[in-house]
Amino acid sequence: MIQVLEQGRTFHLITAHTSMILHAMPSGHLMSLYWGSRVEGDSFSYIVRDMKKASYLCGTDGINDFRLEQYPVLYPSWGNPDLRMPAVQFCYEDGSVMTDLRFKGYRVYRGKETLPGLPAVISREAECLELTLGDSISNLEIRLTYGVFERYDAITGSVMAANRGEKAVTVERLMSGCFSFPDDRYELMTLTGAWGRECHVNRQEIRQGRFAVESTRGAGGHGQNPFLALAEPGADEDRGNIWSMNLVYSGSFEGSVEVDMHQNTRMMMGIQPFGFSWLLEKGEKFASPEVVMVHSGEGMGAMSRIYHCLYRECLMGRNYQGGPGKYRPVLFNNWEATYFDFNRDRLLELADQAAALGVECFVLDDGWFGNRDSADRSLGDWTENRNKLGGSLAGLAEAVRKRGMEFGLWFEPEMVSPDSRLFRSHPDWAIQVKGRPKQLARNQLVLDLSREEVQDYIVESVDRVLREAPITYVKWDMNRNITDWGSGHLAAGRQKELGHRYILGLYRILERLTGMHPDVLFEGCAGGGGRFDPGMLYYMPQIWASDDTDAAERLAIQHGTACVYPPVSMGCHVSACPNHIVGRETPLFTRGVVAMEGNLGYELDLTAMEEKDKDEVKRQIGFYKDIREIVQKGRYYRLKHDGDQRAWMYVSEKGDRAVVSFVQILAKANTVPKRLRLKGLEREAFYRAEQVMEAGEEAGTPGIRDVCLLRGSSLMNIGLGLNRPSGDFQAQQWVMYREG
Ligand code: DGJ
Repeated sequence: MIQVLEQGRTFHLITAHTSMILHAMPSGHLMSLYWGSRVEGDSFSYIVRDMKKASYLCGTDGINDFRLEQYPVLYPSWGNPDLRMPAVQFCYEDGSVMTDLRFKGYRVYRGKETLPGLPAVISREAECLELTLGDSISNLEIRLTYGVFERYDAITGSVMAANRGEKAVTVERLMSGCFSFPDDRYELMTLTGAWGRECHVNRQEIRQGRFAVESTRGAGGHGQNPFLALAEPGADEDRGNIWSMNLVYSGSFEGSVEVDMHQNTRMMMGIQPFGFSWLLEKGEKFASPEVVMVHSGEGMGAMSRIYHCLYRECLMGRNYQGGPGKYRPVLFNNWEATYFDFNRDRLLELADQAAALGVECFVLDDGWFGNRDSADRSLGDWTENRNKLGGSLAGLAEAVRKRGMEFGLWFEPEMVSPDSRLFRSHPDWAIQVKGRPKQLARNQLVLDLSREEVQDYIVESVDRVLREAPITYVKWDMNRNITDWGSGHLAAGRQKELGHRYILGLYRILERLTGMHPDVLFEGCAGGGGRFDPGMLYYMPQIWASDDTDAAERLAIQHGTACVYPPVSMGCHVSACPNHIVGRETPLFTRGVVAMEGNLGYELDLTAMEEKDKDEVKRQIGFYKDIREIVQKGRYYRLKHDGDQRAWMYVSEKGDRAVVSFVQILAKANTVPKRLRLKGLEREAFYRAEQVMEAGEEAGTPGIRDVCLLRGSSLMNIGLGLNRPSGDFQAQQWVMYREG
């Protein structure tokens, strides 16, 4: 709900549990008054009216008492006379950079749509508030749009800059969202890491100064996710205030927090200003990507569940017709089983095994096209290698389908190998700086997606393959970042537009392809989770969380990823032991439990498995099919993430079933088995907890080790009894049924 108060100068954005209050001062400056747990009232301007002046600051508009630099300016420009880091900066033809934005008007309407050329969170129900600001000297106009997703408890923000003046201007900085808090004691939470270690939760105390999480890589990258949160000291999984921002964007970004000298904190997020600019000719507009803002008064757990529900229902896979009742298929992917070394017989041997174990979709990874027998060549030549496939791709896909599985295929369409037909015909299509040697990574170059002919080539090549063979799943990989920042297609003054134009080009390609193939499940991948963001999720409702498939490593990666992104968005596979990346041995049961945290898949040589392991895989797949509705659509609760213990659970949408998973990382001597306190259950209801058993384990009821019946209140306060694990990396899992 949006309330307009105080003669159209105060705007109260209300969701089920939160309030965000914005206000236009008599001077026309817009202020962020409050964001937090829901409040009621008819007037809120007193929050800024009573602010006392600080010393050593310039008065604003000649009023000595009005010192903008100590105010919570909602969308600040630099100077005039606030000298903190601004949200917006333009450069004018005379080289000056001062902009003075004042409130001009507002509009409230229902229905939240996408942004021009950019993905966004969408809902017909959501209400929007548009606030227009203008700079009277340059005639630049800024429109701030807030989307209020009442029942989801989320607010979106985006910005449109319009050049209504006579001369061109350059956009140098245009953050998507900015909010100021009248306090300076916070902890900053980010998701950071590296390739193979994506999305580890990083929490640090912040003090006066500026703190940022940012990427300059043309994608979010493995090292940082476009997410940041401020937590009040003491806020934890279940308690305390958390304020967070997540950018619906897949390119270079900046999220920052500035704690100023007056104990205020300014938080913002948007396109990375470093290396970016955009020439805005007379009459043109520029749209920022959207930022999603979530406040939780009940800790991180509630924040995560807000994002999960919002993204599942209002963002992910807009064109994907998978729809209600359809679940994500259990995959087999041949990559870690064969790498590039396969032929038709080998693939069908794997397919026979996969089908026998209950796999639903067989995915052929890298190496099926051109002369691609190693990572050195053929990217860009999207024609099947008939010699290697022993015939057509369509023939192979049919052979897989005859075995009762769907067929999926790997692509890396944004890239080109120097050793390819595509590069030989269009060397200028690669991103490069003329006259400088090109930097190769994985022996490949990045295609210039800012060019329409390159976009068309990609759409046509992928579409042709999808039409020629019965393919229902696409793994869309991207294995290197842009390093040679130059486009032969852009004028000198527009070179800094390349990064954003690349992403707009990528979105245009994905909009077209996912629209043409609404039944295909697209899974994003960037050497694992190097581009895991809401922008990609809009087109691709599933993303390969990491190339690191080791179960123990995955615990941290999936834990961090699921802090923001729904578990149904995470691709998670069981792979071989010793693990190909870290060389660790973990029990197959544990690998299964960890991969069931998201969308289950298998990526190992099934033909080399012992019979007892095949029995276990068969059991896991059967079990997952039974519980996947809970995992893919239910509510997710983190139960433990400390010391050597990890535990999480899901409760079904109807609340009638739950799945609980626990992993002891390293065994400890001389410990007493403890109890695991559950969450999200009904206090009064009785639950039957059935402990899951590994294939071949002896027990009275097939597949069940232990059964107990307890009330929700007992399970949530006293807890579920854990077994004493013997050995490292031991998992335990339960299914809970509400009785009656
Ligand atoms: C990187 C991906 O993350 C892997 O899963 C695999 O698809 C390879 N690329 C193939 O080249």
